[in-house]
Amino acid sequence: MTPTEIRPGLEGLTVAETRLSDVDGEAGELVIAGFPVETLARKASFEETLFLLWNDRLPTQDEHAALRKDLAARRSIGPEVRAILERAAGEDVPAMDALRMGVAAASMDAEVADHQAQARRAVAVLPTIVGTYWRYREGAEPVAPRSDLGHAANALYVLTGESPADHESRGLETYLNTVVDHGLNASTFTARTVVSTKSDVISAVTGAVGALKGPLHGGAPGPVLEDLLAVHETGDPAGHVRETLAAGDRLMGFGHRVYRVRDPRAAVLSAAAEAFFAEAEDDFFQTVETYERVALDLLAEHKPDRDLETNVEFYTATILHGLEIPRDLFTAAFAMGRVGGWTAHCLEQLADNRLIRPVGHYVGAEDRPWIPRDERTGN
Ligand SMILES: CC(C)(COP(=O)(O)OP(=O)(O)OC[C@H]1O[C@@H](n2cnc3c(N)ncnc32)[C@H](O)[C@@H]1OP(=O)(O)O)[C@@H](O)C(=O)NCCC(=O)NCCS
Repeated sequence: MTPTEIRPGLEGLTVAETRLSDVDGEAGELVIAGFPVETLARKASFEETLFLLWNDRLPTQDEHAALRKDLAARRSIGPEVRAILERAAGEDVPAMDALRMGVAAASMDAEVADHQAQARRAVAVLPTIVGTYWRYREGAEPVAPRSDLGHAANALYVLTGESPADHESRGLETYLNTVVDHGLNASTFTARTVVSTKSDVISAVTGAVGALKGPLHGGAPGPVLEDLLAVHETGDPAGHVRETLAAGDRLMGFGHRVYRVRDPRAAVLSAAAEAFFAEAEDDFFQTVETYERVALDLLAEHKPDRDLETNVEFYTATILHGLEIPRDLFTAAFAMGRVGGWTAHCLEQLADNRLIRPVGHYVGAEDRPWIPRDERTGN
């Protein structure tokens, strides 16, 4: 490739070999470290998924127990980090900004001597940061993380202060597994770029949180929930869809840049949400199913030449709402899963590192004469 062949957004450019995940947008398939997402998300504990991504194999029983114990020991934050989060909550700083501040400070009160330890610390501490921030925002005292709980159960505990039921922990765990990795998306590429300078994994995760914060990356499930709640109240999905499309707006939760068929993660989360709402004896899932069916029919009429299918955000909104995770924390919940992928990509990059350093094609001025400051007219 000559330097003038520019690929805006690096679209379609292969920049690394990875064994972590493979996204096939035409076939609607997502493979995570050799397993279809449908298998991994349903069967694995989040600790198992982490071990798989970090070590390229599933853990034995003992290794699983050891990782669970190690992560549990890395969950706490000290008074300085708590003070940052209290201040952020008091100033109504958005959750992703608070998370960025908390992660950046998370190397202060922990042993993070090597890249593996940094990866484990980053994953373990994220729920504590999010839960502490949220409890301060709600005017509640933070609760200390519990070392007797698995990662997903503890993530719910530090948020609510209550022991979650099994179906709640399993709902969150399935979600975390489902979104753990998805090719070289913007936040993952950011993480790889940071560690390619031989920086540390905490810095890489801090940068990745900043990248995920942007509305082009992690922002759609909030608006999907608004639609679902409106339809749950009116009972008129067709009216809502017609009104949205007639106004020239896009229907949130449908369509995808890469997938041309149903996003495989939507299928996993749909099944998980159905089981979850059945257990909770909540009729919200009926609204969701009806709305999806009606929306797909009307979208097909609206754009017959375009396969607009349900995307991951649609069922992310459904399951996170079921878990009573507040809308303001949806992107932070995404980060709690994706941090597994970020850290695994950091370790993969470091194992065979080459500094990431693309070139820009200069299109600026040539041969400018230097005019002394007191002679410049401003033109
Ligand atoms: C995700 C998204 C940006 C992908 O877009 P894309 O594949 O690049 O498709 P385009 O933006 O080129 O749109 C193609 C056509 O389909 C229409 N379209 C795409 N998604 C649509 C949606 N959700 N609702 C209504 N129309 C949609 C566009 O308006 C466009 O129509 P036009 O050709 O008449 O202008 C787009 O589908 C979207 O905005 N979806 C809603 C937001 C969302 O759910 N985002 C989360 C993604 S995980």
